Amino acid sequence: MATPHNTASIGEIAETVIMSGDPLRAKFMAEKFLENATLFNTTRNMFGYTGTYKGKKVSIMGHGMGMPSIGIYTHELYHFYGVKQIIRVGTAGCIQPGINIGDIVIAQAACTDSNYINNFLDIPGTFAPIGNFDLLTAAAKSSKDMNIPYHVGNILSSDIFYDSKENWKKWQKLGILAIEMECAALYTNAIEAKRKALTILTISDNIITKEETSSEERQKAFTNMMKVAFSII
Ligand code: HPA
Repeated sequence: MATPHNTASIGEIAETVIMSGDPLRAKFMAEKFLENATLFNTTRNMFGYTGTYKGKKVSIMGHGMGMPSIGIYTHELYHFYGVKQIIRVGTAGCIQPGINIGDIVIAQAACTDSNYINNFLDIPGTFAPIGNFDLLTAAAKSSKDMNIPYHVGNILSSDIFYDSKENWKKWQKLGILAIEMECAALYTNAIEAKRKALTILTISDNIITKEETSSEERQKAFTNMMKVAFSII
């Protein structure tokens, strides 16, 4: 069986899936971290691979940019392919002093300016998308044990990358640590499917100072994030 966006057959995707926005990043991770990786999807070039990591079956797949995109892929993984846990590894811009480029942010919860949740759920109020507690605590412990600078807290999943109205300043006042574009949809899908999810981010840019990562810093931070992700699966 396949879906409109994924040609994998049932059983070809592991119960644990690590996802990144960029499908080429997923390809790179599969080549670098997995043994015997096989490609299960090329539809829309949203590459997905299944292999083993320390003997454990794991899949790695891209999810694209924004909540509609991650919403589709993760819904299908949970509902059609029986996936039990999804760990998103991505980048974000930080909006609090004390967080530096290259640090890790583990998303305890995700606010959003998107209408994804309202369209997806039928509830008489606002829903709070939160990450899975066991994955969250394991990721925090691993980061600490590995001496990787990390922060745990609330983030913003925004529909807007080019924030011309500087809305980030309003979220900053509410203690939001960083801004990315997918986590709220992932957490909502996971909770609705009664499955697990966690988002681990590396800070690629500082929205306050407009500082950006050098490629060397980006690689080091990315490796740190992957170490944390693989340590909790
Ligand atoms: N905004 C949204 N998503 C992001 C950013 C940002 O500044 N940086 C990396 N992902």
